[in-house]
Amino acid sequence: MPSVDRRRLLIRAAALAAGAMAPAGWTTAWARTRLPENPFRLGVASGEPAPDGVVLWTRLAVDPAAPAGGMPPEPFEVGWEVAEDEALRRIVRRGRTIAAPEAGHSVHVEAAGLKPDRPYWYRFTAGGHASPVARTRTAPSPGADVRRLRIAYGSCQKYESGFYSAHAALAADDPDLVVFLGDYIYEKAATADGVRRHPEEDCLDLASYRRRYAWYKADADLQAAHACAPWMVMWDDHEVSNDYGNDQDRSDPDPALFLKRRAAAYQAYFENMPLRAAVRPMGPDMRLYRATDWGRLARLALLDDRQYRGPRPCDAQSRGKFIPKACPERTDPARSMLGADQEAWLQAGLRDTSATWNLLGQQTLMMEIVTPDGRVSNDGWDGYAQTRRRILETWRDAGTANPVVLGGDVHCFFAADLALEPGGKPVASEFVGGSIASLGRSKEIVRGMLALHPDLKFGEGDIRGYGRVDITPDACRVTFRGVENALVKDSPVRNLAAFVVEAGETGLKRA
Ligand SMILES: [Fe+2]
Repeated sequence: MPSVDRRRLLIRAAALAAGAMAPAGWTTAWARTRLPENPFRLGVASGEPAPDGVVLWTRLAVDPAAPAGGMPPEPFEVGWEVAEDEALRRIVRRGRTIAAPEAGHSVHVEAAGLKPDRPYWYRFTAGGHASPVARTRTAPSPGADVRRLRIAYGSCQKYESGFYSAHAALAADDPDLVVFLGDYIYEKAATADGVRRHPEEDCLDLASYRRRYAWYKADADLQAAHACAPWMVMWDDHEVSNDYGNDQDRSDPDPALFLKRRAAAYQAYFENMPLRAAVRPMGPDMRLYRATDWGRLARLALLDDRQYRGPRPCDAQSRGKFIPKACPERTDPARSMLGADQEAWLQAGLRDTSATWNLLGQQTLMMEIVTPDGRVSNDGWDGYAQTRRRILETWRDAGTANPVVLGGDVHCFFAADLALEPGGKPVASEFVGGSIASLGRSKEIVRGMLALHPDLKFGEGDIRGYGRVDITPDACRVTFRGVENALVKDSPVRNLAAFVVEAGETGLKRA
């Protein structure tokens, strides 16, 4: 910003400062860092709940549509506080941090020293403004005898395809934890037929990815979902580029060039998610796969099946993304969808767990889906059948307690049993929680899938929404929540279908 404009901004800021609301005791720093407009237009969020703390996130932006969120290119001081009550009377932790332009004016505060298994409320202050107060919670102590856990999970929120009534409903469900399984943004220019528009550019560099996140995050329903509970997030392809894998873009540019784009996309992802500083990307690399425990009741492992996968199998024989089922690369044991390090980490976690429920959060539908003409997709698990088989065999052979898979990506609600051979004894069950906004598959296609696959127990591709998981020591209940009409704002949400997996038994039942 030219210095004359900068000076004008500061003068305007000073004139407006008298009107800004400052909480008592926070005036000194504020005097140095006033902003004329509310910098909390992207809301606040929390994530990565641990027994003793949680990550608090915000990103300053006075104008979500403007380059750099309309923020001057300089650091701003940000205050934060955590309280035991919603009115912020009993503050237990507070501090200050810096929102730097190099980090897109984002902050990732690791609030520590909190008590396990209880709610907290937090807010930020910056530039003479205070953020909304939001709720978060800590995880139970390791090994604690926890009686219930409610998870809401979603994926695929293409902005121009619909409104976020699913997020508003999810927040009203009062979950302990929100899990997001990817496609938080879509990277392409807006399509003309959408119900709302974002800036039209393709995301190709850091500035454009940042701007896309800002546009999405300005949505009030999405902000409400972030403000209701801590999130655990995993990306899929559209946070970078459609159907990418490792250093390969679907449109096949030079891998070195694509890795530059991936680095920008990962940086923007980090800046916009409530993640720990330890996962901050180094160039095009960012270790996002991880697991979290909820006392003794549940372990949730989140898989990154994009960053490390081997090349798409049988690409030369593909029609679109569909390849012959007999493609030998699908079953080649030397290949992996997760990469050797992540697979070793996952396998160890599946063998060495004392959790009653072992949840696997991943991006897509895990069961095998074959088209009527004998083809499978080479973009999901069907392209990497050997990786899927190794996980299923470990569940079976190690006796991993009560494995349940949560998925996204395919823009449909699906409930299925997972077996080593189609129609065999279930080893686990999986539940794909629809899409928040992205358009799905027709009734006809889903009906055809159900007819061909007896392990697929439920499918719905016409309706947007999310999944809700209620876990007790005895059962895992999954409710699919459908938005009546995601093409209009504030549409009601109802239960579409519910399922139960009983502890100690494999296979899902309708509830
Ligand atoms: Fe998607």
